[in-house]
Amino acid sequence: MSERIKNTASFIRSKTEDFAPEAGIILGTGLGGLVEKIDVRYALDYHEIPDFPVSTVEGHRGRLIFGLLGGRRVVAMQGRFHYYEGYTPQEIVFPVRVLTRLGIRYLFVSNAAGGVNPGFRPGDLMVITDHINFIPNPLIGRNMADFGPRFPDMCRAYDPELIALADGIAGETGISLRHGCYVGLTGPSFETPKEYGFCRIIGGDAVGMSTTPEVIAAAHCGLRIFAVSIITNLGIEGKQASHEEVQTEGAKAEKRMTELFARMLAALPGHTGKACGEEA
Ligand code: HPA
Repeated sequence: MSERIKNTASFIRSKTEDFAPEAGIILGTGLGGLVEKIDVRYALDYHEIPDFPVSTVEGHRGRLIFGLLGGRRVVAMQGRFHYYEGYTPQEIVFPVRVLTRLGIRYLFVSNAAGGVNPGFRPGDLMVITDHINFIPNPLIGRNMADFGPRFPDMCRAYDPELIALADGIAGETGISLRHGCYVGLTGPSFETPKEYGFCRIIGGDAVGMSTTPEVIAAAHCGLRIFAVSIITNLGIEGKQASHEEVQTEGAKAEKRMTELFARMLAALPGHTGKACGEEA
């Protein structure tokens, strides 16, 4: 796997004239519109990148976009990979490791999620402060020691300083932010009323079918992570979600999320040092 990651990273470097991104951005279902705000320098379709999985879900474009957002060099994944599509957990996180090899220090993640906190409303932005993961762990198997330790700490996986930065920007701009715990389930079926209730009882505020594998792999790599859920539907009312509703509500909240990400990027400290997983 390590060899494949290296080869894919080398291929991407060769196609992007060594554009060294400082931050990676993973865009969730229906949230690919953020790329319109990127001053694009290079775009690669997933299917032209060796060993990259190809996204199969409606609303996921399947492109890697390199450019400037908030004045910083970013690489955005327009389209991500889910366990329910049949990918292994290791395949799902392959791009995170490739981006790490390209030199990113920060990972911004977005997703669409069902709210199980009774105070939430569709369209709310929830900063993820913790998660509860039910998707098979991508670190199972031999440890990739050149990326990180066998037993990575997850206590500060969602970077407290980045959360504080987001809260400060929210205060200045009037963007309203919730905080909460994301429950990662496999899907693809939406939850039953009792399953939504279960997610709430165990301490969740939102539930979705992505994010936790990528965050675990990113924490293993030592990346600084910031993640946001767009609450597209409410699980607690026993009202079932639909993919259309998820896409419509996601698109409405996307502007605020894009502004938040761009302002946070602009406020990040400068880029230093070598990429994680890279030989000295
Ligand atoms: N459940 C799981 N995933 C989701 C939901 C939901 O209600 N809404 C958007 N993604």
